[in-house]
Amino acid sequence: MPLQVIVGAQWGDEGKGRIVDWFAAQADFSARFNGGDNAGHTVTVGSRIFKLHLIPSGIIHPQIVAILGNGMVINPSTLFDEMDLLNQAGISVSPERLRLSYAAHLITPAHQALDKALEASRGKGNIGTTGRGIGPAYTDKAARRGLRLADTLAPNFCERLHNHVVDANRILGMLGAPELDPAPVCEHYQEYAARLKPHIADTSLELHAALQAGKTILAEGAQGTLLDIDFGTYPFVTSSSTTAPGALIGLGLGLVAAEVARGIGVVKAFQTRVGSGPFPTEVFDDLALRLRGTGEHPWDEYGTTTGRPRRVGWLDGVLLRYAVRINGISELAVTKLDILSGLENIQLCTAYRCDGKLFTDLPFGPADLSPYEPVYEQLPGWKENVSAVRTWAGLPLAAKAYLERMTSLAGVPVRLVSVGPEREQIVNRQ
Ligand code: GDP
Ligand code: IMO
Ligand code: MG
Repeated sequence: MPLQVIVGAQWGDEGKGRIVDWFAAQADFSARFNGGDNAGHTVTVGSRIFKLHLIPSGIIHPQIVAILGNGMVINPSTLFDEMDLLNQAGISVSPERLRLSYAAHLITPAHQALDKALEASRGKGNIGTTGRGIGPAYTDKAARRGLRLADTLAPNFCERLHNHVVDANRILGMLGAPELDPAPVCEHYQEYAARLKPHIADTSLELHAALQAGKTILAEGAQGTLLDIDFGTYPFVTSSSTTAPGALIGLGLGLVAAEVARGIGVVKAFQTRVGSGPFPTEVFDDLALRLRGTGEHPWDEYGTTTGRPRRVGWLDGVLLRYAVRINGISELAVTKLDILSGLENIQLCTAYRCDGKLFTDLPFGPADLSPYEPVYEQLPGWKENVSAVRTWAGLPLAAKAYLERMTSLAGVPVRLVSVGPEREQIVNRQ
């Protein structure tokens, strides 16, 4: 399909980066459509590990043009750090290869300060944000006072930025947080503006032209379905549309693109979450340590952006089925199957119970999960190390049975199975 939309089907960190990298070998454009540097997407190529926060994961492939869409919020400082790292690794991020939408919003130090101060003011009820200023930047966007990349080109940019910091200072003052001096912010952002300039474009126009010319686009979601502003475990969510239809808005693609689109849901073979909020299948103690890892491997469950230990649990089939519906997913890419090797049994949540009744769909979505208790089906585990398996036939019988059960719960097939972080460690069922 010309437009492949790759989204997280859980609470983020499903391994979207490594799946996008796999698809990118056959694509022309790799585009991010939501979020900002709250994301951390890992691509492993041999001994090289790339942790990308803003630049789409397809960039590692030399033929790819990378797009940061209008739906994003962009911290230029992080962007330039990332560009420098890629350049040092011999990966070009020239203006021809890295295109930024004029309508994407800027993140400033004032947004970051507000994010931290608001979190502190929430006390125990905090969201556990990444502190990157994401919520405040989208708040300014919705309030129609945000600064867009195109604004960096205007003669009054500095004045507007100055006013933005002064406005933010009023709220910081009310929250008892230190205020910011606008002068150095303006100075830095004027330098940033000059470096951003050659990359800023009407990326919607470029992507439309690409589709018309028969090119292929990978749209890469950040975060995951259950962190979506509308469809996630509200209010413990991020501030953007993380789901597949968000790609149409966040890239300016329009409904015509939907006719040539395919949704691929990335799902970890178990469940993880960073930050606060409900997690019905969460496990603790020894089992949690077993699933999370101790931190000795790069793929152990510690946040790519913040380093926080991720909460872990069994796969939630109810929420997976929900994610398939909300996104319009037609196939799954399952990651980290290798981590389950060696477990005697695996629990899979197939329904929720509440007041003696069973639910496979929730009456009001996943916001309030507290009345529900997960109902588990126990499946036998497998002992074999699967990290060298490259064919469906080569997977242990019990692993295939687990994946088939996942398919029947989700209602869509498993196409890809990732058995390790490296580019080659994947089983393509097609
Ligand atoms: P993303 O945010 O969805 O791109 O995921 P992250 O990069 O934050 O987290 C996924 C982590 O798991 C990264 O360290 C990946 O390198 C790693 N990873 C991805 N797929 C696999 C896999 O199949 N097996 C193992 N062991 N690690 C994987
Ligand atoms: P990727 O793209 C996992 C979580 C935060 C917090 C909530 C709101 O790597 O999968 P925010 O800073 O966005 O306002 O935080 O969302 N969160 C993520 N969790 N993976 C991510 O990105 C995340 N981005 C934000 O932990 O609970
Ligand atoms: Mg991540």
